[in-house]
Amino acid sequence: MASQNILLLPGDGIGPEVSAAAERIIEWFSANGSTKFETERDLVGGCAYDAHGEAISEAAVEKAFAADAILLGAVGGPKWDKVPYDKRPEAGLLRLRKDLDLFANLRPAICYPALAKASSLKQELIEGLDILILRELTGGTYFGEPKEIVTLENGEKRAVDTQVYTTGEIARIARMAFELARTRSGKVTSMEKHNVMRSGVLWKEVVTNVYETEGFGDVRLEHMLADAGGMQLVRNPKQFDVIVTDNLFGDLLSDVAAMLTGSLGMLPSASLGLPDAATGKRKSLYEPVHGSAPDIAGKGVANPIAMIASFGMCMRYSFGLVEEADMLDRAIAGALGSGARTGDIADGGNAMGTTEMTDAIIAELVKLG
Ligand code: IPM
Ligand code: MN
Repeated sequence: MASQNILLLPGDGIGPEVSAAAERIIEWFSANGSTKFETERDLVGGCAYDAHGEAISEAAVEKAFAADAILLGAVGGPKWDKVPYDKRPEAGLLRLRKDLDLFANLRPAICYPALAKASSLKQELIEGLDILILRELTGGTYFGEPKEIVTLENGEKRAVDTQVYTTGEIARIARMAFELARTRSGKVTSMEKHNVMRSGVLWKEVVTNVYETEGFGDVRLEHMLADAGGMQLVRNPKQFDVIVTDNLFGDLLSDVAAMLTGSLGMLPSASLGLPDAATGKRKSLYEPVHGSAPDIAGKGVANPIAMIASFGMCMRYSFGLVEEADMLDRAIAGALGSGARTGDIADGGNAMGTTEMTDAIIAELVKLG
């Protein structure tokens, strides 16, 4: 039987709870599917800082390089507000993204039929919504240098973050957007701010060039200023298929898109590198879009769906287990369809906990399997 090695990095806040839920799903597929999953675990974020004084240890980074895929829960929390900037919990996650060169972050926003009422938008605007935000993840403002706070001669301070992109960085994410659109409704919307940023001018130029010179004529390309894009996401989200954008705009726009679907607790993500020239395998990390939610951590009430669906993306994109991934998506839809709700998506009534929601999804898997 094929075997895959998954590194679990549960992290902080609700990370460990939703990771434990995902682990039950991993075990179910290991026992009932075509592939055996071996899991290893390590620390990332605030818990790693508490244990080692770093947001991720060298040993954990080594394990990340060796794993077939990584599943990460969440990092951060008020407990670590005062730790030095380069050791803050988020630094562990950012280091993994950068060191593993996970430049492509796929953030699907899908509205499950059972949840159309949970959105803050009118039901008809989001019913059937299925869009994919493709966020560039290893460049731009997150990593550009200089990145510093300096004290000026007059005693004032001056803070700098640098927005920087090269042709190659833009071209590879554009290519990925066109390839993904081909497997979906065939439309790409590229978002930047070429009206005020030089990086936006280059972004638009390179995306257009890849489109025109690399044979993507079967896909439609449109450009939109990122602020207008945010507005359109809320006005008429179903006009979009794939949205490709930079690291910072993608961070903002994907939170907006996530909330359209009813809850941040629903959305998975995949962060992928380029395929290895020799093996064809991509480095990959899967994580929910939601954060560590310190306010509900440890209470057993967190919605595990984003984390469980992240494992679904892992089966789909890292292991090519498309049938299994489809089955898991159907099980999640089935559990929701039968009325299973955690607090974040319940409209009044009795909300269930993390464990019960996971039970409901496993019960659907048993039915489908
Ligand atoms: C995300 C998160 C991260 C980001 C944080 C935790 C560093 O908000 O994955 O969207 O800003 O990229
Ligand atoms: Mn974010």
